[in-house]
Amino acid sequence: MKNKIIYWYKKYVPRGIQKLFYILKNIDELIKLGLFNFELNKDTRMSQLTWTYANSSNVDKKFVSRITEYINAANNLDLQFDTSIEPDKSRQYEFEYTNMNMFPGEHYRMLVGIINTENFKNFMEIGTGSGIASKAILNKTNADINTFDIIPWREDDSHLTKVEFTNNRLTQITENLSNPQSFRKYSELISSSDLILLDADKSGTFEDSLLTKISTISFEIKYRLLFIDDIRYFSMYKIWKKIHNPKIDLTSFGHWSGSGLVDISNGLIYKD
Ligand SMILES: C[S@@+](CC[C@H](N)C(=O)[O-])C[C@H]1O[C@@H](n2cnc3c(N)ncnc32)[C@H](O)[C@@H]1O
Repeated sequence: MKNKIIYWYKKYVPRGIQKLFYILKNIDELIKLGLFNFELNKDTRMSQLTWTYANSSNVDKKFVSRITEYINAANNLDLQFDTSIEPDKSRQYEFEYTNMNMFPGEHYRMLVGIINTENFKNFMEIGTGSGIASKAILNKTNADINTFDIIPWREDDSHLTKVEFTNNRLTQITENLSNPQSFRKYSELISSSDLILLDADKSGTFEDSLLTKISTISFEIKYRLLFIDDIRYFSMYKIWKKIHNPKIDLTSFGHWSGSGLVDISNGLIYKD
């Protein structure tokens, strides 16, 4: 019966009236969308922010407005290269390193912008890689960094040097957090971090296992963010869809391959 009514409605009610009903039904969402655009035009004078949110009632204007501050902060930054490192085209992440100041395009300025805007003190990274994010954050913020990788940085083709480890702000932990024991060992560290960057293997399998575990942690309520790299990879799309927190796809102001920002102040809601 319901289907029949929908059929007759679509067939016989004039399009203009259908549009009017659509507007009335979605008025809340449309107002939010309008305010979002207004905020962007006012604050950033940039357009084409691609975005999506999991649950419209969750994304409030405050979150959107904070994000425009991050974009502004990132826009005003300039990341410098470490002159003590010899350029080496054969290094695995040399291209990313030489382009780290690209904004938009890369996500390093956005990460620094977030940390400085919020005055975050604890940054956690899953996937040290060659240490580009760590270097940028060490140089441009006051945050301490705990970075996880399965490969020790010295054995990797790293942009990190001993110098970054001298003042104890940077710690690398070589553990695989999808391992239940390792996860248990570090769950307190996870829950005390202000900003978590998930930038590991992008298989989707590791991320799914890790996010499932993080969703079991009961976090002390405070403003806390999760930044996920490469959410536009096919393997990462499902992961991104399974997050039901307030979240915004910031790819237009981050990494070209996808940058997702999630508000996990009250913990992570991760499910199909
Ligand atoms: C793209 S790189 C990270 C780049 C880094 N965030 C940067 O800013 O330079 C990905 C890293 O994730 C690491 N990785 C892969 N699986 C991992 C896991 N299960 N746990 C932690 N790190 C992992 C890889 O060894 C690799 O070094």
